[in-house]
Amino acid sequence: MSKRTLVTCALPYANGPIHIGHLAGAYIPGDIYVRYLRMRGEDVVFICGSDEHGVPITIKAKNEGVTPQDVVDRYHKVMKDAFTELGINFDIYSRTSSEVHSENASEFFRKLYDQDDFITQESEQLYDPEAKMFLTDRLIEGTCPKCGNEHAYGDQCEKCGSTLSPEELLNPRSKLSGAVPVKKKTKHWYLPLDRYEPWLREWILEQHKEWKTNVYGQCKSWLDGGLQPRAVTRDLDWGVPVPVDGAEGKVLYVWFDAPIGYISNTKELLPETWEKWWKDPETRLVHFIGKDNIVFHCIVFPSMLKAYGDYILPDNVPSNEFLNLEGDKISTSRGWAVWVDEYEKDFPGDQDVLRYVLTANAPETKDNDFTWKDFQQRNNSELVAVFGNFVNRAVVLTHKYFGGRVPENRKPLPVDAETLASILPCRKALEENLDTFHFREALKEAMNIARIGNKYISDMEPWKVAKTDMDRTASILYTCLQICADLAIAFEPFTPFSAEKLRSILRVGLDAGTDHRAGEGAPTVNFYRADEGRAVHTVPATEAIVLHWNQLGAAELLPVGHELGEAVLLFRKIEDAEIQQQTDRLAKIKAEREAAAAAAAAAEAAKKIEPQKAEVTFDQFEAMDIRTATVLAAERVPKTDKLLKLTIDTGIDQRTIVSGIAEYYSPEDMLGKQICILANLAPRVIRGIESRGMILMARQGDGKMRFITPQEVLANGATIG
Ligand code: MF3
Ligand code: ZN
Repeated sequence: MSKRTLVTCALPYANGPIHIGHLAGAYIPGDIYVRYLRMRGEDVVFICGSDEHGVPITIKAKNEGVTPQDVVDRYHKVMKDAFTELGINFDIYSRTSSEVHSENASEFFRKLYDQDDFITQESEQLYDPEAKMFLTDRLIEGTCPKCGNEHAYGDQCEKCGSTLSPEELLNPRSKLSGAVPVKKKTKHWYLPLDRYEPWLREWILEQHKEWKTNVYGQCKSWLDGGLQPRAVTRDLDWGVPVPVDGAEGKVLYVWFDAPIGYISNTKELLPETWEKWWKDPETRLVHFIGKDNIVFHCIVFPSMLKAYGDYILPDNVPSNEFLNLEGDKISTSRGWAVWVDEYEKDFPGDQDVLRYVLTANAPETKDNDFTWKDFQQRNNSELVAVFGNFVNRAVVLTHKYFGGRVPENRKPLPVDAETLASILPCRKALEENLDTFHFREALKEAMNIARIGNKYISDMEPWKVAKTDMDRTASILYTCLQICADLAIAFEPFTPFSAEKLRSILRVGLDAGTDHRAGEGAPTVNFYRADEGRAVHTVPATEAIVLHWNQLGAAELLPVGHELGEAVLLFRKIEDAEIQQQTDRLAKIKAEREAAAAAAAAAEAAKKIEPQKAEVTFDQFEAMDIRTATVLAAERVPKTDKLLKLTIDTGIDQRTIVSGIAEYYSPEDMLGKQICILANLAPRVIRGIESRGMILMARQGDGKMRFITPQEVLANGATIG
């Protein structure tokens, strides 16, 4: 058989911990696929690592006052541990700051350079004369010409959403030093993608019509839009130095070096044999990515590989859309995420629940939403109530009636064979879906097997039959246990921890294929066997019953008389309080964010200044009788929200003024206060009350009003002017 597949997952940027968006986008699907292929006997290398270059990492370092290397060292470890925690077992998880990568990426660039595959272009770029660095758009800050936001970026105003160019910003300044950017000439190397356009059209649009529609569609629109040369170098001091003369102070653009990291990491893992994985046309290359990576993996990187010469090209690039969290975009900086390290603390031992929910709800064809309610619901009503409940009933009853040994099929009925026969079609559907990267559907098929089992045991009611017919009970439990063994195979790709637990209950092993974690000299054989209630690895096949993928739904898996291990629960119920804790945390973040946004909006509105009114003459001003007065009595005007009726002493008389200030002041607030009034305003009847005069109020941009009062209390009737 020996089909060889090289599977990669996008190298995540080493500037933040891994969250559910990452997992659902690329890593869980990649891991499911690899586990599946290996169970089917394929030889698979599974590659990932940290993407440690790029501007955001340098900015983060600068903000924290540490070096970029410090930043990536910290996150590389956090990310690596997160994957291990969730059973995502890459053969190698290396990093683009490695020696091997630096050499490999340099060599790659150098070869294309020597072959004249690049063009160079001089252009004027913005430069920070104090920091002595060229500035990317994100490193320039200024005032948005559209909305006046003083902290707009060189490429975008986050306030009003406008796309900007650094030239449009008013009062532009460097985020590094605050200096005013100046233009400076610089030379860069470009990969002329336009040269590859005809070939890409043929290769993708004609030869890869089977790619997922979201991937194919994005490629088509890029190609239809026409491809432009893309810069592959940057003026920056963090990255792989450009290995040619005249490129001092320049590094490879992060999107040039990172995908080469897939090759470097394979080289690091398999220094002797890596080439067969990258250059032998018998090898199938599959990239798992998120949708923001499509153009780089389908257009840019393949063009690089094609230019280089003897590399294979991706056979498929399964890409997911984005996952949101409770209706909002996931964002580490805004605290709106579920991170693996936090999840591990709050739900220790529940890795499979997260894997299950993220697969059942994967954003395969459109953006999708993760909610904690759905998480709880899927756990409690699917994993616990169907899968776990079925297995537990079957095993507990076997212990109760048959001493924990698989009973003889003493009194079979057609329904037993029919039930077992209905599992093979699930396997076929499972395979079809996994082969075509439809992981949600695949998981449904696996779950169907559990549903078949759960329905069978509920319909057969062996706990009742046992009172009258032990032979029939034996047949029922014999059938149930075969289904349990099917589940121990079918769930291995999706929920490997629980599948292993189930196998330890059933005391069987699994042929999970070989991985390359120890290199190629010493492949690890992933047989599992129960040993004192715990599963251990690397047991010779002869010592245990070893399940194989191709037995799923097609064979008697547990022979009569086989002794089972103890019944333990596969899944636990997740309580409301646990979910509440998570939703409370998010609600708090949301409330804080909304309060901050409201405060910022109010502050902004308050600053809005009315333009000056048309000119008046001195005489017109003099005609107004403005004076001080004191509030003697105040009450609300009945049946209105806005009006107060005030009795005031004007120094000349006592009179009534009706004023629309009840939104801002209560009657008690006004009582005894000295105010200023326009005394000679023509009287008006408001709500049946004659109002004589007007209270002077200052009103700011957001509508907030305050009455005017002299610095110190004066006599009533003091004139103002
Ligand atoms: N670091 C990129 C991201 O997180 C992905 C890089 S994938 C690679 O979006 F191919 F460049 F490695
Ligand atoms: Zn703006």
